[in-house]
Amino acid sequence: MRSTEQLAADHAGILEVLEALDGVLREAERTRTVPSDFLRTLVAFSQSFVDRCHHGKEEGCLFPCLARLGMPTDGGPIGVMLQEHEQGRALMRAIAAALDRYEAGRAAVDDVLAPCREYADLLRHHIEKENAILFPMAEAVMSEDDDGATVTCFADKDERPGEAARERLLQRARGRPPATGDPAS
Ligand SMILES: [Fe+2]
Repeated sequence: MRSTEQLAADHAGILEVLEALDGVLREAERTRTVPSDFLRTLVAFSQSFVDRCHHGKEEGCLFPCLARLGMPTDGGPIGVMLQEHEQGRALMRAIAAALDRYEAGRAAVDDVLAPCREYADLLRHHIEKENAILFPMAEAVMSEDDDGATVTCFADKDERPGEAARERLLQRARGRPPATGDPAS
């Protein structure tokens, strides 16, 4: 698999988690309860799989390769992607802090749910841009050797704890009662 295809496969895994998050947030809005366990696991997944593993591959391998091939990093598509990675990290810190405050009785349900919705929106748009704009641009300029070197660079970025957190989130979402059509609602 070429480097951009591997990154797109990561994206598909992240989008599955965002779909699970949507369902859990709908349930949380209905019950007015914060799903603390799910969101703590989401924070772990985001820090491990999304950030260190996936963004690590982009920031540590793909973007430097594209920079060597002449693509600017302080503006243009790579600049925008780097900025959005930072926004995602900041939102994850905001979610973790809101959870701490909620558990200490110092935050409302919506204080926790709002940054979660923002995170899902940001990441979805970000992934769309990478898949539709950045990856085709990368494929057009990278030679087979560039691609091979980028794939080799990915090798030490994969993280098993991140994969385990993803599985837990998907299982939790599958085991969740339906948000609509519930006779009790
Ligand atoms: Fe990405």
